[in-house]
Amino acid sequence: MGKCYPTVTEEYEKAVEKCKKKLRGLIAEKKCAPLILRLAWHAAGTYDYKTKTGGPFGTIRSPEELSHAANNGLDIAVRLLEPIKQQFPILSYADFDQLAGIVAVEVTGGPEIPFHPGREDKTKPPPEGRLPNATKGTDHLRQVFGHQMGLSDQDIVTLSGGHTLGRCHKERSGFEGPWTFNPLIFDNSYFKELLAGEKEGLLQLPTDKVLLEDPVFRPLVEKYAADEEAFFRDYAESHLKLSELGFAEAE
Ligand code: HEM
Repeated sequence: MGKCYPTVTEEYEKAVEKCKKKLRGLIAEKKCAPLILRLAWHAAGTYDYKTKTGGPFGTIRSPEELSHAANNGLDIAVRLLEPIKQQFPILSYADFDQLAGIVAVEVTGGPEIPFHPGREDKTKPPPEGRLPNATKGTDHLRQVFGHQMGLSDQDIVTLSGGHTLGRCHKERSGFEGPWTFNPLIFDNSYFKELLAGEKEGLLQLPTDKVLLEDPVFRPLVEKYAADEEAFFRDYAESHLKLSELGFAEAE
């Protein structure tokens, strides 16, 4: 859709395939799919389409960006991934991190997401404060995902479904607990739990709960809770967009 992907060498494409296998092994062994998905999302989610700054271009690994409050704990993901990255010096960090995010979804049972290589590493981290704040409401979500990243209302709901993986850690974000009872499986249980309401042992962030109050968001939550195939199809489309913000844009 209006994308103009760069051509990479055959050697580069082979490295992507081999690296994908290594990532599958590492993510399965370390059970770190949630943290890796969060890394890929936080790398991409800083994109500002008006100024064409931020986005999935490798800067998240800089001490400056890693020290942004929203990125608490992501240094662990960088450390876990580094031994694999070392084996594939030809790959950009930008491509590598997005590939890792896609593999994290795949190995936990989620949809397959297409991957196009060719992102170049940039040096300048985005300013702090572009990622969403979990204590805010729907206007804020539309500001960050819509006005800043250029994504749609549907993307907000599908991508929030990423919280079907993982948990909050008190020492990282101030919140504690998982969204579902199977945080290492990518399925539609995030939406089912959201509709079911608060439960002992589970958590819902304010930004998750507000999806139920909005006339556009709520029907999508209901649809994805009832139809996992629809969720997987729409999630894959939104994740692809997220992973390619600012990349291969046709001028
Ligand atoms: C809608 C706005 C969002 C807000 C406000 C938000 C906020 C948060 C917060 C506060 C945490 C807990 C971090 C911790 O304590 O370890 C978290 C974790 C997580 N987020 Fe989000 N998030 C949002 C969207 C997304 C999106 C779009 C994705 C991916 C598609 C995503 C994937 C994850 C994952 C997988 C974790 C678990 C990490 C782990 O288990 O270590 N989030 N998020």
